[in-house]
Amino acid sequence: MKRILICGSNGLLGQRLAIMLSSRTEYEVLNTSHHRSFVFDHQLFDYTQLDLTRKSDVKSLVSSFQPDVIMNAAGATNVDWCENHREEAWNVNVLGVEHLLEAARKVKAKLIHVSTDYVFDGKTGDYAEHDKPNPINYYGKTKLAGENAIRISEINHAIARTIVVYGHGINVRKNFALWVIENLKNNQAIRCVDDQISNPTYVGDVAFGIIKIAELDRSGVYHIGGSERISRYDFALRIAKVFRLETSMIQRIKTWDLNQAALRPMNTTLITLKAETELGLKPVDITQGVTLLKRELQTTRKN
Ligand SMILES: NC(=O)c1ccc[n+]([C@@H]2O[C@H](COP(=O)([O-])OP(=O)(O)OC[C@H]3O[C@@H](n4cnc5c(N)ncnc54)[C@H](OP(=O)(O)O)[C@@H]3O)[C@@H](O)[C@H]2O)c1
Repeated sequence: MKRILICGSNGLLGQRLAIMLSSRTEYEVLNTSHHRSFVFDHQLFDYTQLDLTRKSDVKSLVSSFQPDVIMNAAGATNVDWCENHREEAWNVNVLGVEHLLEAARKVKAKLIHVSTDYVFDGKTGDYAEHDKPNPINYYGKTKLAGENAIRISEINHAIARTIVVYGHGINVRKNFALWVIENLKNNQAIRCVDDQISNPTYVGDVAFGIIKIAELDRSGVYHIGGSERISRYDFALRIAKVFRLETSMIQRIKTWDLNQAALRPMNTTLITLKAETELGLKPVDITQGVTLLKRELQTTRKN
């Protein structure tokens, strides 16, 4: 039986990996995250706390569990927070990855690491895996440094870059779709930029891609994104439409109106052809993805 170690199991993507892998009897999965407890308080899941910034903890857990594959979905992911907390962001997104690499090398584990469209400057959009990164904010810089540490490590690895991930999770940091839904349901006006373009990704698609990388033992970089290119403003309209919420509360603004701490790349759309052909990824479009999210929220409310 293959042993898989998930890092960041309490996060949006980590939770989805945990759920999807829990039904696979060919894997023994150990979930880990920064917090003392796991969001799923259930015997179906093995969980232990692991802070990636603690080198000796990473080393001892990896050497005792002896994973074949490590999936790293942990990270400092709040872009503006990273801009203002540079040392902490570096510790998680770069040193944490280096700790995993060192530990993985000792047990000959493969590392599948999750990275971001924010490694690109967003000047052109439609980025392929071989395009040159040029991050314009600190979060993007830490994520690229993490990627580079992996690239030069000579361990068996894959890097899955994804973009504007949306979906449901328990106690997760509010992603764009959840933020839109919550505000519109409460009749709160929201301001959405029409000059940032992405191909938003349903969380189940990213988890699918990562699991396929493990199954097929693929290496290198993979772009995993949704099938539609869209601005945040239009994305909000589409979410409102699926949830039958009032669109007049969505105000159209420009990025500079937000005055955020970190610069934002304007168009970071990712080309996903490689993941589609090599992994069999069939990314959903926005209506499909948001409909899936709606169903998940309805199911959660019923339980
Ligand atoms: N969400 C997006 O739109 C997006 C877009 C592009 C790329 N990505 C990348 O995708 C990955 C997953 O993103 P996500 O949205 O699932 O993130 P998320 O919901 O913010 O989850 C990240 C998880 O990382 C864990 N973590 C933070 N510091 C840690 C540490 N020192 N040691 C161990 N775990 C730690 C946290 O665990 P606790 O909850 O236990 O504290 C948190 O649950 C990240 O690498 C991110 O850069 C995300």
